[in-house]
Amino acid sequence: MINTLKSYKELSSTVADIVEYQIQEQPLSKLIFPTGSTPLGMYKELVSRELDWSDVITFNLDEYLMNPDHPYSYHSFMRKNLFDRINIYPDHYHFPYRPTLSFEDTMYANKGIDLCILGIGSNGHIAFNEPGSSFKSKTRVVDLSEQTIQDNSKYFDSIDDVPKQAITMGLGTIMESKKIILMANGNHKLNILNVAMNGEVTEDVPASILQKHKNVEVYYCD
Ligand code: GLP
Repeated sequence: MINTLKSYKELSSTVADIVEYQIQEQPLSKLIFPTGSTPLGMYKELVSRELDWSDVITFNLDEYLMNPDHPYSYHSFMRKNLFDRINIYPDHYHFPYRPTLSFEDTMYANKGIDLCILGIGSNGHIAFNEPGSSFKSKTRVVDLSEQTIQDNSKYFDSIDDVPKQAITMGLGTIMESKKIILMANGNHKLNILNVAMNGEVTEDVPASILQKHKNVEVYYCD
C-alpha cells in the first residue's frame, strides 16, 4: 500500500504527474492542496510544466488563525510557491474560512472534490486534524497540539510565534474526495506512516482513516 520512491525528486514528479493528468483529463477539476515542506518539490514541478489552470478550483486543507497576509501564513506559502506562478484565477483558490459551513458549501457546490493531496504530521495528523479528532469531523477551528507547535516552529522565528489555533478541513470532509494521495518525505515519517496505513484504524491516529477510502495512494521516499 505504501509506494516507496527512490528520491524526493521522484516523489515530487510522481505526484505532479497525478495532478497534471487530473487537470488534462478534466480541466474543471476541484483539487485539495496541502502545505508544509513535503509538497514544495511537487509545486515546483507543477509550475515548470506550464499547465492551464484557468478552469481549476482549489481548496487548501488548513490555515493558521492569523492574518492571511502574514509571511508565514499558508495563504502566503501557497501564493509564493504556486498560485502567483500559474494562471489560476485568484477567486478560484480557497482557504478554510468562517462561517465554516459556507466554506463546505463552496466545496460541494455542483460537485465534490476530484483529487486531494495530503501530507502527514509526525503525530499522524492530516491537515490540522490532531489525534482524537472525530472521523466525521467537518471544517472547524482547532487547538494545535504541543507536538505540532514544536514541529512547525522551524517555519517561524521562534516557537512563541507559532499560532496556537488553526482552521482545518475535517476528516469527514477529506474522506469525501474521490481520490486521495498521501505523500511523506523522510525516514522520520516512516514509522507513523506504517502505523497509519497498516495499524489499527483509530481516531488516535487521524491518518488511519485513509485505510477506509476506496481510492487512496501513498507515496514515500526517505
Ligand atoms: C502541517 C500541515 C499538514 C502537513 C504537515 C507536515 O502541520 N498542517 O497539512 O501535512 O505540516 O508538514 P511537513 O511536510 O513540513 O512535514
